[in-house]
This record gives sequence, C-alpha cells and structure tokens, in this order.
Amino acid sequence: MSDIILGIESSCDDTSAAVIRDGYLLSNVIASQAVHESFGGVVPELASRAHELNIVPVVSEALSRAGVKAEDLTAIAFTRGPGLLGSLLVGTSFAKALAVSLDIPLVMVNHLQGHVLAGFVKEYGKENRQPSFPYLCLLVSGGNSQIVRVNSPLEFEILGQTIDDAVGEAFDKCSKMMGLGYPGGPIIDRLAAKGDPLRFKFAKPHIPDLDYSFSGIKTSLLYFVRDEMAKDPDFMEKNKEDICASFQKTLIDILMDKLVKASKQTGIKEIAIGGGVSANSGLRRRVEDEGRRRRWNTYLPELKFTTDNAAMIAIAGYYHYLAGERCPLDVAPVSRIADF
Ligand code: KG4
Repeated sequence: MSDIILGIESSCDDTSAAVIRDGYLLSNVIASQAVHESFGGVVPELASRAHELNIVPVVSEALSRAGVKAEDLTAIAFTRGPGLLGSLLVGTSFAKALAVSLDIPLVMVNHLQGHVLAGFVKEYGKENRQPSFPYLCLLVSGGNSQIVRVNSPLEFEILGQTIDDAVGEAFDKCSKMMGLGYPGGPIIDRLAAKGDPLRFKFAKPHIPDLDYSFSGIKTSLLYFVRDEMAKDPDFMEKNKEDICASFQKTLIDILMDKLVKASKQTGIKEIAIGGGVSANSGLRRRVEDEGRRRRWNTYLPELKFTTDNAAMIAIAGYYHYLAGERCPLDVAPVSRIADF
C-alpha cells in the first residue's frame, strides 16, 4: 500500500500544502503574501491573518491537483517551528483538526530539517539525484545560515551557524537601506548579474571555527553608500549594479570560505545547499565551480524547492512517519529552534 502524506507549511509568509506518494511529489501549492511588500518586511500579525484566509483553499487545491481525496491520506505532516508563532499556529491547528477528523496520524517537522531534506523530494520523469549520507548542507535563508552535517534523514548536527544576522537578512536589509525594494535577495541577484563584482571592497568578518556573522557587512555597506552619496547624490543610481555585484560576491565569499573549511575538516565531499538564498544565481555558480575544483558531488535544489514550500515538509514528515514517530494532539508550535 502507498503512503500518501499531506504536508502543511505556514512558518512565515507563505501558505503551502503539498502531497507526496511514497516520496514522489503529486502537488505543491504555494500562496505567497503580497500584503507585506509595502512594509519592506513581513508583518507577523498580517501574516497570520493571511494564512487563515489561505489555508483551506491551498490544502483543497493541493489535494485536487494531486488527484487525491482527503480520505486517501495516510498521515499529515506540519511545520511546528521555528518561525512566527501566529503563522505557525494556523498550520498547526489546521493539521491537528484535519488529522482528528480523518483519524490519521500527525507528524511534526522542524522547518530547517525540511530545507535540508528538500533535495529528497522525488518527481516523476526527473533524474532525482540525491546526496548520499553523510553530506554537508549549507542552509541559507531569511532566518538562518548554518552548515549542517546530515548523517541520515533524521540525524543532523549543526557544525556552524550565524552568531547574529542570517545571510538572507543581510540581502533584505541592505536592499531596503539602498532603496532597492523587498525581498532584497532576488533584486540584488538580478542587479548583480549586470555589475562588476571586483569594483568595491566590503569588510569581511573574522569569526572563529565554522560560525558566520553578517551584521558587520551591513554597517560597512551603509557607511560606504552614505559617504559616497554625500559627495555625489546620484552615486547609488549610477553604480547600483556594481555595488550589488560586489556586495553579493562578499556574501558568497564568506559563505564559501566556511563551507570549504567544513568539507576539509570532515572529509565530506557530498555538498548540498538549501533555503531561500540557495536560489541565488551567483551562489549556485560558485558551489558548482568550487565543486569541480575540489571534486565535490554538489546538489542544488530546484528553484521551486529553495524558498518555503510544503513539499520539503511532506518529505521530512514521510521519513519521521516511516520511523514510527507520531505527534500528540496537545503539541504547541515553537518560534525558536532551541525550543523544538
Ligand atoms: O527560505 P526562505 O523562503 O524563508 C525563510 O527564511 O525561511 O528564505 C527567504 C530569503 C529572503 O531573505 C530572500 O531575500 C532570500 O531568501 N532569497 C534570495 C534569493 N531568492 C530569495 N537571496 C539571494 N538571492 C536570491 N535569488
């Protein structure tokens, strides 16, 4: 008999539902929330309200695209955290209610595990290359920057992580500061493609071991742009492509230095990336280039699995389900990874 898992993701500003059958994707529906754009960042209260509006139509659409009836589901997997508490509450409550009404098991998923396992979602008619264990995953998103050693689908070890801002935050905050818009990552990525990455130099942090820091580069960019604008008010407009290219290159250098170090220290050459920032074209190119040079096997997620999506929650939930894990109905969502 097949295992059909419904995944539900609502940790930030995307409401998503996906259906997988025996690890193969049948549907993955994502409703993004445009309501935050004019604020230059996610407004938690608006996010949870939008999840409430979206959750029923998104789940119905995922089931209908998958050609699956609710009664056919084997289990429901949901994101318990980390994320925005109000947003998580909507997905968690919905998943519990549906599981009770269908009398099927409920499985909880750590959002970050979802990103790390995104490459294990199989699709019909595709090659479905997957890393072998153990592998290293550079997990880079709006809320996290980590190097994770993945020993099995359910066994993770964080080798290094940011001590302040996440790299996605650096993209988003700097884009906002430069008046380029939100979310910053895709905007800077697009402008960087047309600029000279060697034109400007920004300070790089000196953090020990495999940890990261991205708050200093924000200040470095801010002072640089402010000083240049004092001399020439059109400086930003005239040079934004070179600024973005140089800034993006600095972020990628910082990420790659520690990833190379982690690979050397562990001897692991199976290298994956995940999370929203893994959509960055410069980072994807660098991982592939470095991989060729260092004889790594590299695994880049498809773009649709980089930002928040329920397919990755469904696949992570599938592994938990297979391992016999079940979630009690009184479980509460958690905003921080430490509380998981
Ligand atoms: O994983 P994600 O959807 O949300 C969480 O943080 O969980 O990641 C969102 C982040 C944002 O900071 C966004 O600016 C960044 O991913 N991002 C990118 C790109 N696309 C999205 N950053 C750099 N280049 C991109 N192409």
